[in-house]
Amino acid sequence: MLIQVPDLLSPEQVAACRSLLDSSEWIDGDVTAGHQSRRAKNNMQLAEGDPGAIMLGDIIQAELERNTLFVSAALPKKIFPPLFNRYSSGHSFGTHVDNAIRQVSGTEHRVRTDLSATLFLSDPDEYEGGDLVIEDNFGVQRIKLTAGSMILYPASSLHHVTPIKRGTRIASFFWIESMVRDDGQRTLLFDLDSSIQRLAAESPEHPSLIQLTGVYHNLLRRWAEV
Ligand code: NI
Repeated sequence: MLIQVPDLLSPEQVAACRSLLDSSEWIDGDVTAGHQSRRAKNNMQLAEGDPGAIMLGDIIQAELERNTLFVSAALPKKIFPPLFNRYSSGHSFGTHVDNAIRQVSGTEHRVRTDLSATLFLSDPDEYEGGDLVIEDNFGVQRIKLTAGSMILYPASSLHHVTPIKRGTRIASFFWIESMVRDDGQRTLLFDLDSSIQRLAAESPEHPSLIQLTGVYHNLLRRWAEV
């Protein structure tokens, strides 16, 4: 399942992130790449543990926790502290799969990567190329969103970032361990939750609402690991 979360950050928050990122120290993106993806990866990144990255990551995490679309789609159990990357002219990231388990640098904390997230911090007119291309059973999708918007996709999917031809593309990227590991089960729960929300808005007294809500929670009880 591919889910767009529009306007996770406000324009003011994006501007604040960008001004902090402009004065940050960018290093070669190889540092967080796995064995196989290191050869494919050609971009810049903020170091894990960079104080600016931690501060911005906390802002992003706070917005994620109160975003009902994100919570319903991801059913998050753990969120990897957001990382930041920058692609300029000639940079790209070839086809790869994200590592299944990520350890938070300098800690014992591990996150199983059920979902991958890219939060765009540059607007599409700031760069050419730099499409996030995701291949999965839903086909090939090319993603380029407005600054402040985020795409969520299964971490099991092959993906790449096309070469930048002009300008600079800045984004945050991170992973989510979901309470519901299986993408198919998570998709069913999301579809059910979305239709309950619609029904509740259109027909709040509908007698089936309580029963449907019960079905949702009983499926969640059956499938979730907390
Ligand atoms: Ni990746």
